[in-house]
Amino acid sequence: MNKQLRNAVIAGNWKMNKTPEETTALINEMKPLVKDADCGVVLCVPFVDLDAALKAAAGSNIKIGAQNCHFEPSGAFTGEVSAPMLKAMGVEYVIIGHSERRTYFGETDVTVNKRTLAALENGLKVIVCVGEYLEQREQGITEELVAMQTKIALNGVSAEQLKNIIIAYEPVWAIGTGKTATAEQAGEVCGVIRKTVGKLYGEDAAKALTVQYGGSMNAKNAEELLAQEDVDGGLIGGASLKAQDFSVIVKAASK
Ligand code: 13P
Repeated sequence: MNKQLRNAVIAGNWKMNKTPEETTALINEMKPLVKDADCGVVLCVPFVDLDAALKAAAGSNIKIGAQNCHFEPSGAFTGEVSAPMLKAMGVEYVIIGHSERRTYFGETDVTVNKRTLAALENGLKVIVCVGEYLEQREQGITEELVAMQTKIALNGVSAEQLKNIIIAYEPVWAIGTGKTATAEQAGEVCGVIRKTVGKLYGEDAAKALTVQYGGSMNAKNAEELLAQEDVDGGLIGGASLKAQDFSVIVKAASK
């Protein structure tokens, strides 16, 4: 982290977990534990939990996000939710392009870009996810791949809109596997993302960009990962479902 230059943000991605009632309970448990955070705290919850999450988090330092949004404002897209709908609810953040959406739901770099643009145009802050599969790392193409995913995701994003973007580097092989990237690996690829953004938007914009690491980040390894200059926070899956563990990560980012 380099807090002189940019904001550190710890975001929980609850994935497909928790009912509205459980959402209220977990946020109420988290609130006192993270209230003194010296970093951004975001919880990205399932669509059906957004209302409960917004109510539970009201007046606290916890911001609420969704886990996806469609690129059209409305229309015949059964099962989808649009950016204006999220905005109208008071949602502040949205995750776009998570590897689980890319792997299981046919999300491509191009749809990630379209969804990102729609979210930004509707005033949402976007956490764009990029990252390689294990075979790609073994082939030695991680840097090129992540740079390409970043460039395509940001196609058409203005310098002003970039201020509302966080990029999360999530190596797919580290997600939910307990296999964390080493701090050096995480720092290296987060640095590649920053360089890529620098080439597109200039040094100052790159310096100000928040780049998170995600993939089995937990209460034990957070401090070491966050000690990397280019790792400005985390996108946390499993550990964000436990108030105590999540708050330890928030504290590590608050140092
Ligand atoms: P885990 O922390 O469970 O590995 O999940 C990471 C992730 O995918 C966050 O978006």
